[in-house]
Amino acid sequence: MALLDIHLLGSAPLRARSGEVATVDDAIRQFIDDLFETMDAAEGVGLAANQVGVTQRVAVVGVEDDRFAMINPVITSVEGRVRAEEGCLSIPGIYGEVTRPERIVLEALDRDGQPYRRELEGYVARAVQHEVDHLDGVIFLDHLSLLKRELLLRRWKKDHRGEPLIRKVSPEGGKKR
Ligand code: NI
Repeated sequence: MALLDIHLLGSAPLRARSGEVATVDDAIRQFIDDLFETMDAAEGVGLAANQVGVTQRVAVVGVEDDRFAMINPVITSVEGRVRAEEGCLSIPGIYGEVTRPERIVLEALDRDGQPYRRELEGYVARAVQHEVDHLDGVIFLDHLSLLKRELLLRRWKKDHRGEPLIRKVSPEGGKKR
């Protein structure tokens, strides 16, 4: 297993639409293991391939004991609306209130390439939507009002001017999401 470097806002893959995975092979399984390890070290609740510079439709989520990989995930239905604060490992220090569907149905392939379908609600449903967004080059700030988004983007640029767009994750974690 290996820790992957996390791309920060401003790095091109974060704004790319990832391509479908054609075959779930050992390389994809290794990549999933690396995503989990990196997510845990960075103390996140989800991590998408785009965030480590890989434009393939693979992401992992880990909310409490509910940990799962998603390959080619599709949200096939949504219900309700709920507002809650989100952050992102690729935009550390920036948080915003995002309104999203409360309940979703997720269809994806698992680590073995087997299709699964899950009905999710609450925080884990939010994490899944946030990660699927990443695979489409969408970040949580895109869901905010123009005014709020511009404010947070200005703050981000001011705080990170001249800094590298890729950050190393240390094995002991300790970074906020
Ligand atoms: Ni994120």
